[in-house]
Amino acid sequence: MSQTLNGTANAQTTDTTALKNTKPKTTRKLKTPELFIDGGSSHTKSYLEKIAGSYQSICREFPKGHDIPTGYLGVFQIGDKGYAVGESALSLSGGKLHEGYSDDNKIKLLAIWIIGALTTHPNFLFKKAKKVKLGVVEIDLKLSLLSLSSHRKKEIEKAINNIQFTFDDREFKINITEYKLYPEGYGAACAAKRWLKSNDHKDAKFHVLDLGGGTFTHTPYSNLNGVPRASNQKSVSGAGVMAITEFFANEAPKGDTGGNIYHFSRLKEALETSTINEDGTYSSVVIFGDGETDIGDRLHSGLEAWAREIVGVRELLRDIRQVLRKNERVFLTGGGFSVPTIQTFIANYLGNSENVILLDTPESINITGIK
Ligand SMILES: Nc1ncnc2c1ncn2[C@@H]1O[C@H](COP(=O)(O)OP(=O)(O)OP(=O)(O)O)[C@@H](O)[C@H]1O
Ligand SMILES: [Mg+2]
Repeated sequence: MSQTLNGTANAQTTDTTALKNTKPKTTRKLKTPELFIDGGSSHTKSYLEKIAGSYQSICREFPKGHDIPTGYLGVFQIGDKGYAVGESALSLSGGKLHEGYSDDNKIKLLAIWIIGALTTHPNFLFKKAKKVKLGVVEIDLKLSLLSLSSHRKKEIEKAINNIQFTFDDREFKINITEYKLYPEGYGAACAAKRWLKSNDHKDAKFHVLDLGGGTFTHTPYSNLNGVPRASNQKSVSGAGVMAITEFFANEAPKGDTGGNIYHFSRLKEALETSTINEDGTYSSVVIFGDGETDIGDRLHSGLEAWAREIVGVRELLRDIRQVLRKNERVFLTGGGFSVPTIQTFIANYLGNSENVILLDTPESINITGIK
């Protein structure tokens, strides 16, 4: 196994492990469907039979015996316990709320995030259930997991060994026939490789810069024959969009004597919907009472503070400038880069180099790029 401590994998030798309870192969011609999961700290992204899904990485766990509603997306039962993920976790009350990024939940709740992906985009389950009139619906799946360290293989295998749940009054059993681990942002690297090829570039090396909800990550890749190979990944934890929102929240009320309340969630929305004006200034509209105010200038100050005050961010951006000086290309990915102001700010910071390339659909390419 060629993974390093920070989860970087040599993708060519990515681990493929058959689980012990793998069912004997039948002569069926049908290919086993492959489920890709990127359990991000902000959103859990999935890809299955050409359908990309995403839901907020939060889960509500209800105590035994607590009645849960049926017919809700992302609401299911394991044994006698109820669970709700994403929007449903927010709209229902009671029980205990778990977040994707805290308390080692990426691994501890791995089975929940997988079931969450299947039940928030349930067409696949409905299709399978239709074919089995009564009893447990058994489904064979191949599983590809992104951004989990192979050092936790035992725990990962335990989590995916017995996935059984009730959803929409039907019982499902998922048999994972095979699983693979990929490094964070691997789909983006595949997309970058295709971009280089289609533009006739023969770069031996390229870089992926991923701005997620929680982390900001730089991964160099070598572009040899075959699949891209990651090396020496550098990840700054606590430097993603949540951190940018905090710096923005710190700047937002400055100079405001109107007694307005700056809710964190409103500011996050104002950041996510912010835009660049024709004259290059920033626009970010926040709603107060019955009026709205554009605090784009304060968003700009917030971004400056983020890049200046988090040492890891400063160093990472400095590394990227060095990379650009060597004429190597840098591809941008992660939900953070789907926000035009963040994207413009970082591009400016990096000197508007033409070697900085924004990948299409940066919020989902980390997973949809693996094809
Ligand atoms: N379509 C979009 N439009 C605007 N903002 C978006 C969009 N998609 C994602 N974002 C923002 O980007 C942030 C990061 O999203 P992303 O899914 O890349 O994070 P993550 O992979 O869950 O986090 P991490 O990689 O740190 O574990 C989100 O919190 C959200 O603020
Ligand atoms: Mg991510």
